[in-house]
Amino acid sequence: MSIVTCIAPVNIAVIKYWGKRDEQLILPVNDSISASLDTNQLCAKTTIMASPDFDVDRIWLNGREESINNPRLQNCLREVRKRAQLSPEMESWKLHICSKNNFPTAAGLASSAAGYACLSATLAKLYKVEGDISTIARSGSGSACRSVYGGFVRWYAGTDPNGSDSIAKQIAPPSHWPEMRILILVVNDERKKTSSALGMKNSVLTSELLKYRAEHCVPKRVEEMQQAIMDKNFEKFAELMIKDSNQMHAVCLDTTPPCFYLNNVSFGIIDLIHAYNEASKCVKVGYTNDAGPNTVLYLLEKNVPEVLGLLDYYFPSESMKNVEYKRGNPPQSFPLSKELISKINREKNQPGHLKYIIHTRVGDGPTYLENPREHLLDSKGLPVEL
Ligand code: PMV
Repeated sequence: MSIVTCIAPVNIAVIKYWGKRDEQLILPVNDSISASLDTNQLCAKTTIMASPDFDVDRIWLNGREESINNPRLQNCLREVRKRAQLSPEMESWKLHICSKNNFPTAAGLASSAAGYACLSATLAKLYKVEGDISTIARSGSGSACRSVYGGFVRWYAGTDPNGSDSIAKQIAPPSHWPEMRILILVVNDERKKTSSALGMKNSVLTSELLKYRAEHCVPKRVEEMQQAIMDKNFEKFAELMIKDSNQMHAVCLDTTPPCFYLNNVSFGIIDLIHAYNEASKCVKVGYTNDAGPNTVLYLLEKNVPEVLGLLDYYFPSESMKNVEYKRGNPPQSFPLSKELISKINREKNQPGHLKYIIHTRVGDGPTYLENPREHLLDSKGLPVEL
């Protein structure tokens, strides 16, 4: 019997991946860059046990048994088995996989990246795979390949039709820019959304803007973004991130049928951040949105109290006094000055548009947990909590 447990981070892209040039191999039309977030606030945790006593492969996700025949999961298993360095006997052992997130799935935070990165890292250790595992994670979910490293990570689109050079690499470790902070604004929204997989597919088939973006905009922007990170040039970093997020959502609108991921709250936050940056006479906050209405803010530590004050004032919460409203790093917030309020010149919103705020930072990549008490499976290979 052999058992491995691992945690892996969520990542939030600052140059977006939107569109595949190969649906089967999950090869993107352009490079992308993200930061992996601190696993103390957001992470996936996975335990995998291999045993000669198991009859079939089984998987439990967030407390429920699911089908092992999920094609993305099978892709990861196939990729890892190709590179396994095990005795033929052990290769025939069946697997029990148990995985959960340390954050509510209902929040609409992209959990597949952390989940597939964690699955790949756990499988890789179990099967004694050596070298880069971003291609294994990529075969589960494209953006997952960036979560196999910590800090700032670039996914190179590559040119090989077989995808051998479509890999992720760390640009800078978390210690490179320790002042960077992230505020995830979880927006209340119950609409049913187009999945990113379907949205991207439709964009590739129908959007001319997507082709223009991939050929003429991202190649230059991705280099500028990497340089801004290396130089710790926050203003440049935030400006590029804002432009790229809005361009991704413009591509979504240019798609037939169009996909709408942002809602009025997201637009209200975007407008407020521009008004705040203008009133501050410098770019203090950058924002980005994935395939949903939650808006993610990147900012420097010194500006966190004022920006939390800004959000408390313009997007008040009914549960603001409730500790659960602000999660993660300590939520100190400064009241906004009257001068800033008059410069921003916007209406306050009704309470209740934001569900909660997660305050986090850039963190490490996948980490193996050696303490047996961390395992999600018991000695018989069944979930510890069900
Ligand atoms: O890996 P997927 O299919 O979940 O792609 C998601 C892509 C975005 O989150 C919208 C952008 C990105 O680069 O992460």
